[in-house]
Amino acid sequence: MVVGGGAREHAICDAVVRSKNAELYVLMHNRNPGIIRLAKKVEIEKETNVDAVVDFAVKNGVELAVVGPEAPLKEGVADALMKHNVNVASPTKAAARVETDKEWMRNLMKRYRIPGQLRFKTFTNVDKVRDFIEQLGGEVAVKPVGLTGGKGVKVVGDHLSGIEDAVSYAKKIVEKGIGGEKKVLIEEKAVGEEFTLQAFSDGKTIFPMPAVQDHKRLLPDDKGPNTGGMGSYSDKNGLLPFLSRSDYEESAVILQRIVEALSMEGCPFVGPIYGQFMLTSNGPKIIEVNARFGDPEAMNVLPLLQNDFVDICLSMVEGNIEKKRIRFQSKATVCKYVVPEGYGVKSMVHQPIHVDEEGIKKTGALLFYASVDKEDDVVYTTSSRSLAVVGLGESIFEAEQLCEKGLKHVEGDHIFIRHDIGTKKLIEKRIKHIKQLCG
Ligand code: AMP
Ligand code: GLY
Repeated sequence: MVVGGGAREHAICDAVVRSKNAELYVLMHNRNPGIIRLAKKVEIEKETNVDAVVDFAVKNGVELAVVGPEAPLKEGVADALMKHNVNVASPTKAAARVETDKEWMRNLMKRYRIPGQLRFKTFTNVDKVRDFIEQLGGEVAVKPVGLTGGKGVKVVGDHLSGIEDAVSYAKKIVEKGIGGEKKVLIEEKAVGEEFTLQAFSDGKTIFPMPAVQDHKRLLPDDKGPNTGGMGSYSDKNGLLPFLSRSDYEESAVILQRIVEALSMEGCPFVGPIYGQFMLTSNGPKIIEVNARFGDPEAMNVLPLLQNDFVDICLSMVEGNIEKKRIRFQSKATVCKYVVPEGYGVKSMVHQPIHVDEEGIKKTGALLFYASVDKEDDVVYTTSSRSLAVVGLGESIFEAEQLCEKGLKHVEGDHIFIRHDIGTKKLIEKRIKHIKQLCG
């Protein structure tokens, strides 16, 4: 059973049906047409409705579950399923705190002296916020402590003009209780290039996947507000053009140490774990940890997975990931999201998108549906991201061109795509940035 109905879950479902011995059941809040096609049975229901998820699983004799999004993990859906003897390759509510409670995650890293930390403090009273921001030289990230779908964080120099702006945003978070708590996290701004490292975790040991770079900002050249992610790429060798083997290994050690810390805390982390890193002149630093696959990053790595995905999920549950020989095809990937016009500010909802699935298929690109409704063969936008197209190739540029070929078969008057993702110009800018920083 897969819980969730976005493009990430479409990619997970795709990996499940490639497995020899699996039958797919899906519970999701929307009618994702790509997932509906793959599943034996679908239940349309809110993913955070824990009782409904458990009922659906028990009724259908589900043996193994994977939860896509973070919100149901926070509600304890994995714990509830386990109580009903369902194997779950996703973390318990306690382990998912690495994502759902940023303060707890930062304190965990501190207590276990895990490398990759940033200086931080939380405040429920904004009176002392200014002092701390000044101590950090005004260069800070201002964050709600809880979940905001990747859209609640603001950084000085990117979305905030300076100390004044940072203080007033901190105030707004505390007063309005953004992220579910009247508390704000102020942390040191990390300067460098961001990248994602996802890993399979069995509670003790991790197996890292190829590194990916996501693009959070809405507009080309990394301008505009933060979004859930506009697209992403990965390289043939599992590294990134600005990320060395030793940076990659250092990041994997950080994730491994986090998993060990969680185990020592009595809440072992089983499932895919996700590290958002900033590669700085002082090595990789943790920006955030997620308790699940990334969206879009799942679309980069899962199509490359050569093992049986269900088998890997069982290994995570059984605690023997170490014994698995996990392999990824050595190909580069580029993923670009098609989003409704206005996404990130005010999306134009219920606008038609014409998707020529056969046309995309013929190019060799992959199509993953996200938050759309389908009526009479026409796909309509909702307020979230609509669909993603992924190109695979021998180089990032080959993958990018294939992705664009696929995107030619997606038409709509009110859609938006960040066409610069994976292009030579943007990648060269990333490499230059790291060269300037690190010498
Ligand atoms: P998050 O939701 O924590 O991933 O934050 C969203 C985005 O804000 C990240 O992907 C970064 O681009 C940026 N960001 C968050 N924290 C920091 C930080 N400490 N330093 C620099 N940028 C950050
Ligand atoms: N790609 C960002 C996320 O999944 O949170």
